[in-house]
Amino acid sequence: MRAPRFIECPAPAGLPPAAEAAAGLARRPARLPPKFFYDALGSRLFDAITELPEYYPTRTEAAIFADHGDAIAAAVHAALGRGATLVDLGAGNCEKAERVFGAFAPGRYVAVDISAGYLRTTLERLQQRHPALDVVGVGIDFSARLALPAGLVDAPALLFYPGSSIGNFAPTDALRLLREAREAARGGALLIGVDLVKPADVLESAYDDALGVTAAFNLNLLRHLNRLLGTDFDVRDWRHVAFFDAAASRIEMHLQARRALAVRWPGGGRGFDAGERIHTEDSYKWTLAGFEALLREAGFARVQAWTDARRWFALLLAAG
Ligand code: TRP
Repeated sequence: MRAPRFIECPAPAGLPPAAEAAAGLARRPARLPPKFFYDALGSRLFDAITELPEYYPTRTEAAIFADHGDAIAAAVHAALGRGATLVDLGAGNCEKAERVFGAFAPGRYVAVDISAGYLRTTLERLQQRHPALDVVGVGIDFSARLALPAGLVDAPALLFYPGSSIGNFAPTDALRLLREAREAARGGALLIGVDLVKPADVLESAYDDALGVTAAFNLNLLRHLNRLLGTDFDVRDWRHVAFFDAAASRIEMHLQARRALAVRWPGGGRGFDAGERIHTEDSYKWTLAGFEALLREAGFARVQAWTDARRWFALLLAAG
């Protein structure tokens, strides 16, 4: 049996995480990078979100794979042949990629996530189920720039970016990432999930569910900062706010101070007025035509799309 390889790419010359968090908190309005959602509890809470009746994206994407899996696999084979490298962007628990192994039959599986350490156990187990597969874990934060280590992709590859994380990028940054993905695929293809525009009430309950799991997920960011940066946030002073901005076509997530308060951390601090917010994430919703146009602007010549019956979510294969 082969053993997985792991490559940890140092963060590009940016701020260390605690300094990045402090700078975001000091901004007016305060804004924190969404990567700080995902401590151990945050990752579990996000998994719980995907099981909520209100959070349709995960389930809808899975239904598109179930209904159109054969057509998608045939299109991938037409673009790449069998045995190509599969690059899984934001692999997490690798479950979505493993479900497509049967159809895509990759020769190499490159799981990319923010930390190779987080991938270790998952990939060791995955290797046991696929003893002949060349498995590589790459720890890289591609939110600022997607650049894979040299030698990993030396032939046309399938880049796999499910789950609509592309929606968390503003359109100009999404365009940059798609261009970089096209480069990284080396003449291969990109299979990407995108959440589509739909009625505001459906969108808003997906990001503010009745049980309060999404609120807990958003608020947990403050506890993560208490450990990471040494802030003295009390989560009870804050509320979760999510709304759809139709003009910008995005859900905005914020944490809002319930009262005037001060937050301190080693070497800094700031006050918040009652009602003042910390902006924690945006989730852009695309029209199918709008996203197809974005893929073409990024240089992809051929684009195919599959959607569910309600046209709530789309999977797109972009090549050329
Ligand atoms: N990236 C996910 C999304 O946009 C994350 C997410 C789901 C999220 N629910 C949230 C982020 C609530 C902040 C608050 O769908």
